[in-house]
Amino acid sequence: MDTFECISTKFEVREFNEKQVPSEIRMKILEAARLTGSGLNTQHWRFIVIEDKERLKKLAYDSISGKWVIDANFAIIILTNPKYSFHLIDAGRVLQNMQMAAWNYGVGSGLYTKIDESKLKSDFGIPNDLTPSVIMGFGYPAKNFKNKTKDRLPIDKLVYHEKYA
Ligand SMILES: Cc1cc2nc3c(=O)[nH]c(=O)nc-3n(C[C@H](O)[C@H](O)[C@H](O)COP(=O)(O)O)c2cc1C
Repeated sequence: MDTFECISTKFEVREFNEKQVPSEIRMKILEAARLTGSGLNTQHWRFIVIEDKERLKKLAYDSISGKWVIDANFAIIILTNPKYSFHLIDAGRVLQNMQMAAWNYGVGSGLYTKIDESKLKSDFGIPNDLTPSVIMGFGYPAKNFKNKTKDRLPIDKLVYHEKYA
């Protein structure tokens, strides 16, 4: 799959089947994270991988907008350091690279940001200087996305040339 095909066919996946994601693919997804560039190359991010079913339940319980993570094959909490003003840009870049790497192998993923932060921090031993910016769930999609079209604005509503409007 080339990069553009990956971007244009990838959907957010929140329903997963039971099939196990092989550990080599999980490692590729993590390698995609490791290789991502961060602001000033600080690499302040850290990743907690969760695959234990009971801990996935806990993750879902601590979530506000990602209860679906309970059925993921595995999840990743992306931690970033808020002392860097660009830390959320870094979180966005690294999550997108992980999503693209996963999709390239037929693995779906979804993300969520609304959580009970203090509970999540205590349940997963997250230190005070790091923020759980994004949580991602991964697994093989329960549904086929082949005929789905993207609900996106047309280019002429989005892009201006030389100046705005
Ligand atoms: C910054 C950001 C926050 C998001 N938060 C959530 C969330 O809390 N829960 C969720 O299920 N999806 C969340 N999403 C996923 C979006 O709903 C998804 O990207 C959008 O609906 C497009 O999905 P599609 O690519 O399948 O069309 C978030 C996406 C982004 C970029």
